[in-house]
Amino acid sequence: MAIRLLLLLFIGTTPLYGLQLIEMEEDIRIPNPSEVAKMARYIIHNSDWASIATISTLSEIQTYPFVSLKSVSDGPRDNSTGNLYFYITSMDVSGKDITVDNRVTIMATLAESSYCSQNNLDPQDPRCAKVIISGHFHKVDNATSPEEYKFARASLFERHPAMKYWPIDHNWYIGKIDINLILVLDFFGGIKNVSIEDYFNANITSYNTEHWKVSVIDIPV
Ligand SMILES: *[C@@H]1O[C@H](CO)[C@@H](O)[C@H](O)[C@H]1NC(C)=O
Ligand SMILES: *[C@@H]1O[C@H](CO)[C@@H](O)[C@H](O)[C@H]1NC(C)=O
Ligand SMILES: *[C@@H]1O[C@H](CO)[C@@H](O)[C@H](O)[C@H]1NC(C)=O
Ligand SMILES: *[C@@H]1O[C@H](CO)[C@@H](O)[C@H](O)[C@H]1NC(C)=O
Repeated sequence: MAIRLLLLLFIGTTPLYGLQLIEMEEDIRIPNPSEVAKMARYIIHNSDWASIATISTLSEIQTYPFVSLKSVSDGPRDNSTGNLYFYITSMDVSGKDITVDNRVTIMATLAESSYCSQNNLDPQDPRCAKVIISGHFHKVDNATSPEEYKFARASLFERHPAMKYWPIDHNWYIGKIDINLILVLDFFGGIKNVSIEDYFNANITSYNTEHWKVSVIDIPV
């Protein structure tokens, strides 16, 4: 990561005369809004959590849409796959819904980062981009897909170290969404449709989440 150093001479109060070494970590490179597949992958890879909608099985709101939050990972920080991996239990509300009907929709957004607030974008502003993905939720089974299981588990545990300590009696399992539809809202003019092929082929290695980080070091002279 590039680091720019600026040396400024300043006249202040304490100290009266001094030098300021301003260290700025370069960045905030998000994909262009026209690069919808990259935008979708960028948001997913850099989101630690997603909203997840299920079809409710609660007696009071049976078949209503139900929404919850789940931690997500599509790979370790340095390896985005686009696959949506979750560590979930059938004991909570959405986990129960999934056991009856595994159709889900998830939403992740740049509003989870500081990008939107730093750019004065209201969370509902389309430029505060969102990706919405629908599909069927499936278990990743260690017995039948050991490679993917190992990768998914490592991906989740790297991004969410607390998962290692989640109570074992909750029967956590690794789940994944088999994607049917990917929608991106990242600019004016309406929501856009991303093909599943373009989504998985998108290369986002040149983008990252770091925002301008400025540290100021005062050097009294
Ligand atoms: C990323 O993960 C995939 C497994 O899904 C693996 O095949 C690939 O080699 C990994 N790439 C890097 C750079 O680690
Ligand atoms: C997954 O299965 C392998 C054997 O194929 C086993 O060594 C490993 O401990 C299992 N992982 C978990 C978390 O159960
Ligand atoms: C998304 O694109 C596919 C293929 O072009 C099309 O069949 C589908 O109707 C589109 N869906 C939406 C919500 O735009
Ligand atoms: C992704 O792009 C980077 C350059 O930004 C390149 O080094 C890398 O090989 C590309 N990966 C793939 C799988 O094309």
